[in-house]
Amino acid sequence: METAFNVHLARAEAMTPYALRLRSEMTDAGEWMADMNQIRRIPPGAAAIPSGTGSISPGDGEAAEAEGVGGGVPGAGSKLRKRSQLTTPCLIVELSALDANIALMADLCRRAGLDLRPHAKAHKCAEIGKRQIAAGASGLCVATVGEAERFADAGLNDFHLTSTVAGPDKLARLAALAGKGVLLSAVVDNREMVDAFSQAANAAGTKINLLVELDMGRHRAGAASVEEALDLARGIAGNRHLSFGGVQAYAGHMSHQNDYAQRRRAGDKAKAFIATVRDALTPMVDGRLRVTGGSTGSLFIDRDDKVLTELQCGSYIFMDVEYMAVDLDGKRSAPFGNSLFLETAVISNRIPGLVTTDGGDKRLAAKYGANPLIARGAPDGATYRASSDEHGEIKLPSGGTLPLNARIEVIVPHCDPTVNLADTLYAVHGDDVVAIWSVTARGV
Ligand SMILES: Cc1ncc(COP(=O)(O)O)c(C=O)c1O
Repeated sequence: METAFNVHLARAEAMTPYALRLRSEMTDAGEWMADMNQIRRIPPGAAAIPSGTGSISPGDGEAAEAEGVGGGVPGAGSKLRKRSQLTTPCLIVELSALDANIALMADLCRRAGLDLRPHAKAHKCAEIGKRQIAAGASGLCVATVGEAERFADAGLNDFHLTSTVAGPDKLARLAALAGKGVLLSAVVDNREMVDAFSQAANAAGTKINLLVELDMGRHRAGAASVEEALDLARGIAGNRHLSFGGVQAYAGHMSHQNDYAQRRRAGDKAKAFIATVRDALTPMVDGRLRVTGGSTGSLFIDRDDKVLTELQCGSYIFMDVEYMAVDLDGKRSAPFGNSLFLETAVISNRIPGLVTTDGGDKRLAAKYGANPLIARGAPDGATYRASSDEHGEIKLPSGGTLPLNARIEVIVPHCDPTVNLADTLYAVHGDDVVAIWSVTARGV
């Protein structure tokens, strides 16, 4: 049966060999993807706009003007530039790879009986969040109050805030969102925070759902013992302005340990702590205790361990250079394909073996120091480095060169902070730009 899902999976096969294998195991994914009406077949050569993407809004006039689209929602592919004609530097998203990643993660979680609440801080883009929800995600994780506000303005309405927050202003803004009917949960790791949330909820005439944050070893935040977790849970459950929603156990230190066996060992330790807390706190709730956490790096471990009930993976949608180094499933299968690229252009080529591009540190962010990886536009053996704020340096083998304005697309070192450097994402299929998306929560 040719469903939108199958069409997109077929396109992505070239990028994700693992998807090909999974396909034979999949149940009819077409049914649960039926709601994904934004994804539809784009005939080769036609720059169709997926319907209802809300891609460019009047508020995005600058981006629209820059690309000659006009101020409104783009209605005709002919008005969109070609990928190779975009004004550089810019971030482009390969739609087929993005959708294949979204579908694969949703299917992996669904078959493992896990809820999926992807972390939207990876993309900060409402249109991508909507695609994740349409594919089966129960809601989105956000890292900041501002992300929740911007996404709520864009029509999304179910968020879990994964960072602890402090200060009456932010708490009042969260309570205001909850008061407006936005589904919201947040985390706390001490009694003072519980009281502050209670006051904010009371002032807004609403109730806030709170989870106990656990310290999984990184010492960023979180209760470090069962006793501490139990005390916090009791404090929440006994407060009439709050409801107790479970625990958050995000073992972030595991995500980028490249070696699977090393991650597996860290997972064993995490599992033991989570299970102890879960067993102590489960009597406080009806049914299953919500245990949320996990990352792209720990996905396959979390799936097998079954102590988390909800996964927060984020980067899987894009797969950056730093995640490409991580052996996700211990088989080096590379289940998720690269979908996010920075398109840059050559702006100087006077020296043999070296060209300068317009993509530097202001466009590319790394977390662990990786360089961008050239995906297209330069010969094998060429390397890319952000050499200064505004410039990139490509070293070419055998004294080679590239013409001025030659386009080079690189896989970005780390997706989350890189996306936060751009106003706009250009969704492409082949050489066609098929949608222009705002980075909805940029800078907040
Ligand atoms: C609390 C939390 N959950 C989930 C994630 C998603 O992890 P990843 O992007 O590695 O999949 C992050 C990322 O830093 C995070 O901080």
